[in-house]
Amino acid sequence: MNNISNKCTYEKWDNCPEYFYIHWPFCSNRCHYCDFVALEKHDEFVEKYHESLCWQIKHFAKNFYKPEIKTIFIGGGTPSLYPLNLFQNFINLLDDNFCLKNLKEFTIEANPEDITKEHLENWKDLFVNRLSLGVQVLDQDILANLNRKQDIEKIHKVMEMAPNYFDNISVDLILGLPGVDDKIWLETLQTVCKWPIKHISIYLLTVYNNTKLYFRIKEKKIKILKDDKIVDLYEKTVDYLRSNNFEQYEISNFAKKGFESMHNIAYWDRKTYKGFGLGACSFDGKNRLQNENNLNKYLKNSNREKFEVEFIQESLTNDQIFLEKLMLGLRQNKGVDLPSMLYFLDEHKKDKFLNKIKTLKSDGLIKISGDTICLTLKGMMLENELILGLI
Ligand SMILES: C[S@@+](CC[C@H](N)C(=O)[O-])C[C@H]1O[C@@H](n2cnc3c(N)ncnc32)[C@H](O)[C@@H]1O
Repeated sequence: MNNISNKCTYEKWDNCPEYFYIHWPFCSNRCHYCDFVALEKHDEFVEKYHESLCWQIKHFAKNFYKPEIKTIFIGGGTPSLYPLNLFQNFINLLDDNFCLKNLKEFTIEANPEDITKEHLENWKDLFVNRLSLGVQVLDQDILANLNRKQDIEKIHKVMEMAPNYFDNISVDLILGLPGVDDKIWLETLQTVCKWPIKHISIYLLTVYNNTKLYFRIKEKKIKILKDDKIVDLYEKTVDYLRSNNFEQYEISNFAKKGFESMHNIAYWDRKTYKGFGLGACSFDGKNRLQNENNLNKYLKNSNREKFEVEFIQESLTNDQIFLEKLMLGLRQNKGVDLPSMLYFLDEHKKDKFLNKIKTLKSDGLIKISGDTICLTLKGMMLENELILGLI
């Protein structure tokens, strides 16, 4: 990557972004497939981290006078482990510094294992209006084999309780976890579709370098599904979800009408957003920024005396903006506007790009309607390769 200037501590925001991401990095166990900024069993740091997070909020808020926020997303790690008394302080601080009156969506990512009635009551009282539950697959043994301690009965109990508090519930599933067969996957989909939920994310398993899963595969201790099996299951999944009124609006996301995630759409539409917490990312319209992702450094440099959390800054070139627009646009069912993409290209590149579009169309990978191009189902499965071919 070029254009990266490391070790910045100064951010320049002309306007306050309307979308906030908050990172809660702590987990009770680290799942073997996980590559997020997540820390297992770090209880002694929880209170200090909460304080640092509060300092980051205060420091940022100094630049503005109570701007209005549209969406908040607390992700992790496992935000359902945020102790409720501290979470309440944190939300009060947010409420004091920003205007939450017109907040449209406030999501908390939660692990069903942690959820009690008290959590649901508190979250609901503290502006949260959307629950995102990490379910992954409804098979305890498959999850246990990946170091995810999940009692399936507990998930069912949560699904009885949670709809009494939240109308907008989303469930995360991972397609392709080792050990999953057609029967287990289709039964998972059938059960999930019967729950009173509004949104489902289906992530294709990514094997990240240096995760436990990566080494177990390399050492031939665990096997993942073949690509053609995953393609087959993905197609069946899209059909099944559609027949249950979950419309696909992005490669991995399906929603009942009107329940598409506003926060995620803001990312894909390249709206500006601000990330608070360890390793959290922000976008100011020109630069991609990432907070310090070493816990000790983050804690050491964000306190009452100073707030000097270093972050990585990457200024986007025109080529990168073109690529981002293409990638983030094509992920969504609404696709991208062709004339605004051509605007980035000189005559020679324009011809090449249009020829590639024609080929992809005749291969059944993209659809063109009017000025808009979007991926077909087959194209969505091959999104990365397809975009590399286009540029
Ligand atoms: C930031 S993670 C938080 C999960 C949360 N700690 C939990 O335990 O439910 C959000 C989601 O990303 C998905 N995910 C995590 N690692 C993945 C991987 N390697 N491949 C595909 N999806 C993954 C999972 O569905 C997960 O629920």
